[in-house]
Amino acid sequence: MLHIEALNQFYGESHTLWDVNMTVAEGACMCLMGRNGMGKTTLLKTIMGLLPAKSGSIQFEDTELLKYPADMRTKVGIGYVPQGREIFPQLTVEENLHIGLMAGKEKLTQIPDRIFELFPVLKQMLKRRGGDLSGGQQQQLAIGRALAFNPKMLILDEPTEGIQPNVVREIGDIIMRLNQEEKLTVLLVEQKLPFARRVAQQFCILDKGRMVSNGEMTALDQDIIQQYLTV
Ligand SMILES: Nc1ncnc2c1ncn2[C@@H]1O[C@H](COP(=O)(O)OP(=O)(O)OP(=O)(O)O)[C@@H](O)[C@H]1O
Ligand SMILES: [Mg+2]
Repeated sequence: MLHIEALNQFYGESHTLWDVNMTVAEGACMCLMGRNGMGKTTLLKTIMGLLPAKSGSIQFEDTELLKYPADMRTKVGIGYVPQGREIFPQLTVEENLHIGLMAGKEKLTQIPDRIFELFPVLKQMLKRRGGDLSGGQQQQLAIGRALAFNPKMLILDEPTEGIQPNVVREIGDIIMRLNQEEKLTVLLVEQKLPFARRVAQQFCILDKGRMVSNGEMTALDQDIIQQYLTV
């Protein structure tokens, strides 16, 4: 579904992604891993068109994404939950969700009930300002916003960062339900190993901007962990 080939990215003179290849098959749940500063967020932002690529290819289904600006990349059917959530703190929960609706190709005007089935707390808090929600609730809002236009693929950047353990588990349950029951294709960045193992079926690892390892989650052994993930 998402196929990246020989992708290079620079911040000014600084070469950050080096010939990155990655494939996320339709229906998969892939976890992108790697230590801090290795290029995970840079890769996701380059997929979403928030950063320019120097060379390479990013294909989503039959579309070459590098030809399109950021707003067109959500319209092909990719929902994106950025690192740090980036909800609008001054806007209400309802307004935040409406912004998510606008990211889609079809002009939906109503927030799908499914969002409130997944996250009942958002329904209770529709009129509350995003900034007044707890960290876990803000993360649910960010995921709800990304799902509002019914994307085919969901990309999440460290959805459990800074969130208390019981909510981490809930977020894991939601991602698994979306992937396994609703057949949504998922790419997530996650540094917590137990969470990654529970939620994802495949992994890939970035090390200093290079894709150094990938495979089935069951093949992620102690050697790979020691070499690329432990600090
Ligand atoms: N706007 C920027 N300008 C220049 N360099 C940047 C910029 N953003 C990130 N970098 C550098 O690019 C590299 C990759 O950063 P990136 O944020 O993609 O890492 P990450 O794997 O997501 O890390 P983390 O796990 O801490 O979120 C780092 O060396 C970082 O310092
Ligand atoms: Mg990051």
